[in-house]
Amino acid sequence: MAEVRVTVHRLQALRDAGTPIVALTCYDASFARLLAAAGVDVLLVGDSLGMVVQGRDSTLGVSVADTAYHVACVAAASGSALVLADLPFGSYQGSAESAFAAAAKLMSAGAHMVKLEGGTVMAPTVAFLSQRGVPVCGHIGLTPQSVHQLGGYRVQGRDEAAVAQLVADALALEAAGARMLVLETVPAPVGRALREALTIPLIGCGAGPDCDGQVLVLHDMLGITPPPLPRFVRDFTRGAESVGAAVTSYVQAVRERRFPSPEECYP
Ligand code: KIV
Repeated sequence: MAEVRVTVHRLQALRDAGTPIVALTCYDASFARLLAAAGVDVLLVGDSLGMVVQGRDSTLGVSVADTAYHVACVAAASGSALVLADLPFGSYQGSAESAFAAAAKLMSAGAHMVKLEGGTVMAPTVAFLSQRGVPVCGHIGLTPQSVHQLGGYRVQGRDEAAVAQLVADALALEAAGARMLVLETVPAPVGRALREALTIPLIGCGAGPDCDGQVLVLHDMLGITPPPLPRFVRDFTRGAESVGAAVTSYVQAVRERRFPSPEECYP
């Protein structure tokens, strides 16, 4: 039987049905095939490729051309998974028109949705892209492209004002037309609060168990990235007989809400 592609509508249906969405980063065709076969819903061609593929110390040096290359590799073997591509640093913050030009390159390469970092300030850009046929995923909380502004890879949403700002940012992005949000490195209660405030899917990356889905960097959950790793990363190769078994174990743990555990959350 022909595979039915995961769409933004399918992601919304999963969210509405309370079925956790499974996402992982992916940068090449071999892993795309393996992840899609294991039942991963979303393959994120993240700008984490700057670190795990290119060996840089941040995501800042990744270009649109780099990302488009990896999107094409992933899309070629993505099976029924949705391909989500990160808009790289500098490609979208300047103007909505520059964002559209970058998004068009990634969509032409095979992406089905693009992701951009930032809250309320990015809402007009999200609206511009959405109204022109580009599904957008927002990304708030710890936004790695702002690492130098944030002073490091720190937990966000630690006080009342910061949480109120995150809720306002999430609602502004949703109102602008975002179809999904990634929330990174915040205390678990903040993940719960945003999940309750939103109607679109909320994917957590170190944001607790109450999000509508989870995403991890592939090389982190396969135990390839050298320590230290954030507390929300679990090495799924422990006890697994193969890479495929490790990915299947991740898919099952997310679907059955066995990941993240309380120890893998920020209080
Ligand atoms: O680039 C990336 O890998 C990401 C995830 C950490 C969410 O944006």
